[in-house]
Amino acid sequence: MTRNDNLKNRKIIIPHTGSHAKLDLIESELPALEPNQILVKTEACGVAFADILMREGLYPDVDRRNLTPGYDVVGEIVQVGNDVSRLTVGDRVACLTQTGGYADYTVAQESLTVLCPRQLPAQQVVAIILNYTTAYQMLTRIARVTAGERILVHGVAGGVGSALLELGLHLGLTVYGTLSQRKWALLPAHLNQHPRFHKLDYQTTPFEEALVKALPEGVDVVFDAIGGSHLKRSYQSMRIGGTVVSYGFSTAIKNGRRNWWEAISGMLRSMTFPVQLIRDNKTIAGYGIWIYANAHPLWFREDLTQLIEWLEQGVLKPMVSKQYALTETAQAQERVSRSELPGKVVLAMGAC
Ligand SMILES: NC(=O)c1ccc[n+]([C@@H]2O[C@H](COP(=O)([O-])OP(=O)(O)OC[C@H]3O[C@@H](n4cnc5c(N)ncnc54)[C@H](OP(=O)(O)O)[C@@H]3O)[C@@H](O)[C@H]2O)c1
Repeated sequence: MTRNDNLKNRKIIIPHTGSHAKLDLIESELPALEPNQILVKTEACGVAFADILMREGLYPDVDRRNLTPGYDVVGEIVQVGNDVSRLTVGDRVACLTQTGGYADYTVAQESLTVLCPRQLPAQQVVAIILNYTTAYQMLTRIARVTAGERILVHGVAGGVGSALLELGLHLGLTVYGTLSQRKWALLPAHLNQHPRFHKLDYQTTPFEEALVKALPEGVDVVFDAIGGSHLKRSYQSMRIGGTVVSYGFSTAIKNGRRNWWEAISGMLRSMTFPVQLIRDNKTIAGYGIWIYANAHPLWFREDLTQLIEWLEQGVLKPMVSKQYALTETAQAQERVSRSELPGKVVLAMGAC
């Protein structure tokens, strides 16, 4: 299929920041391309926690006017920009877009796009692009884990959390993971019953209490996207010489909406002074996929290609908990904003 300018593009926009009720579905012209961009007919797009932060005006460095969210996309290329050399019309691709994916047609950068085998289900590939690349890069490029190490993953049933769990087990790590009771039974058996996975019900007992009994010296690495004072607790759960990777600020969203008090006080409470780091011999590392992928596009493509290969080989079996049509985006966002669903939530454009 090639570009047809008579086609209309259905897309979601957020005219003003606010609740999921602020989302509109509109029809527009097909977008124009920069020389290094491609136009993709979207098969599926992920609904990410970052989309909620954007909707609530809490996500830095994105243009908030009439924003179309959508961080990760699978589809077929219908047009390429003049400088695009690696990809061609008709290729099936997986792209990291940051915004724009909640639409029938999405613009992506060639540099953050890889080929995607035809036989792979679009929802499974979408589950890999943002969540698994984030998890894989944090494990291998930021924390540089080695087999035998012990890691603590918060929100282990969530999109990135379950990716950290599956990849961590694949890389030979022992994984301690916090999750609410309601999600215990929802994790697939190959993860749930793995001998190197230990569940921590953080709502019944503070996770530190359970962890110190199991591992008095502390874990080697903690992955924390809750932020605020939680980050400090994560820091205290590490062994001397350990690393905490801070990659999110979920605490700024409460009951599906932004919470300024938590956002601001959390930011202040998360601070650690350098002198403390020296005394403890610990590292606090940060990771943000968009800036990291743009700084190192080759690493991004290498890592995503590796993950898609593992998906093809059956090494990875990402959890896709729910698929919605574009017309049901508000409902999908509402459930993601309340962390109700485990694994990945997907919009399927063909679903109507
Ligand atoms: N830096 C990056 O590049 C990057 C990339 C992707 C995502 N992120 C960030 O990562 C975070 C998670 O994203 P996601 O898509 O995985 O979201 P998600 O699917 O909603 O998962 C988040 C999980 O966190 C758990 N949770 C909430 N509060 C908790 C707490 N106090 N203690 C322990 N667990 C808690 C929830 O599970 P329970 O019901 O079990 O509590 C939920 O399953 C978000 O902040 C997102 O913005 C960052």
